[in-house]
Amino acid sequence: MRLTYLGHSAFEIIIDGYKILIDPFLVKLPDYNSMNVNDIFVTHAHSDHLGSAIEIAKATGAKITAIYELANYCAKFGVRTNGIGLGAKINYKWGKVSAVPAFHSSSFIDGTYGGCPCGFVFEVEGKVFYHAGDTSLSSEMKAICEYYEPDLAMLPIGGTFTMDIEAAVKAAEWLGVSAVIPMHYNTFDKISVNIEDFERQIRQHGKIPLIMPIGATKEF
Ligand code: NI
Ligand code: MN
Repeated sequence: MRLTYLGHSAFEIIIDGYKILIDPFLVKLPDYNSMNVNDIFVTHAHSDHLGSAIEIAKATGAKITAIYELANYCAKFGVRTNGIGLGAKINYKWGKVSAVPAFHSSSFIDGTYGGCPCGFVFEVEGKVFYHAGDTSLSSEMKAICEYYEPDLAMLPIGGTFTMDIEAAVKAAEWLGVSAVIPMHYNTFDKISVNIEDFERQIRQHGKIPLIMPIGATKEF
């Protein structure tokens, strides 16, 4: 599988020729080629996560997977959706994905309710990775460790709306992952961090910091 960081909490994953997007808020990469997308995962309704999901789904026929209420909202725009609940697992041609709890809020830009927020656990090609969405540190991460045994986590570190660096380091410990890709930082002032602090603290806890510049790609 090939993973590309698209900035903020957005990622592209290529598995077996399938193209998957997570939280496609693409302001940091406006020239990104969003053609030929198969599946889009959206962790919650906030605009920095829903991003261009509906536009991309319309243009490509990609199916949006999201919590039931958010999926229903997207379906009104005529796009294909998988509405799911927390704890549900969906089988795709390229792997399995489960929706897991996130402790945050979820509303549309006009303030209407967007369903509960979530994270996603991807089981792909024998590897397990966890995209936390926006969340606080939570004991759910111990349950995710025990039940899914993730190898890798994408964790928000920017604070103000989510975990900060210290909490994310604790999350990595509770999740039992060997490596962490930091996300949801330095997009705007309120989530600015010194990424070297993350790098140092995560190493001190014996984990590998996978700091990805925007647009960078990694093979797993
Ligand atoms: Ni949010
Ligand atoms: Mn956010």
